[in-house]
Amino acid sequence: MKSMHFTQEKDLSWAEWEDYSEDQLYMDCVAGIIDHPVFLSMDNFMQHGDTTCKVHCIKVSYMSYCICRRLGWDYREVARAGLLHDLFLYDWHTHAKETGERFHGFTHPRTALNNAVKHFELTEKEKDMILRHMWPLTPVPPKSREGMVIVYSDKVCGMAETVARFKRWILFCFGWKSAA
Ligand SMILES: [Fe+2]
Ligand SMILES: [Fe+2]
Repeated sequence: MKSMHFTQEKDLSWAEWEDYSEDQLYMDCVAGIIDHPVFLSMDNFMQHGDTTCKVHCIKVSYMSYCICRRLGWDYREVARAGLLHDLFLYDWHTHAKETGERFHGFTHPRTALNNAVKHFELTEKEKDMILRHMWPLTPVPPKSREGMVIVYSDKVCGMAETVARFKRWILFCFGWKSAA
């Protein structure tokens, strides 16, 4: 039987090759968050496919920042809220089994916000963007247009991460890729 080690392959998506860290303006916006131990600890939890919560949040943050900057909207707050939008700090794949709490999709924005305010000073707008990012699954939409950008970026990144993993899985099953 083929091993499932293909899941350990690195997620080589645009967040890596775009090299957000060379964008000094972006790095200034997210200073104090992107190198904070609590933020970095999201690397211990998988989000979609082979992508960790940390990498997923960087993608959503940087994509939202690029969109808002292009449109002349508030790119600083969207960059910061994007980084923290999934700061729930557990493995949602095993969470239901371990805790009996089966509504991660609905509850994790509130958990992420509670964790975020414990460690970072946030504006009301940033808090709203984190709390409302799962709209329309959760019924109340974000109050700001920047919050809607996070909703959009989160869906696009989540979809791309899931599809990328499925593609790697297909390639692996057909023997077109090594399992290392
Ligand atoms: Fe989320
Ligand atoms: Fe997300």
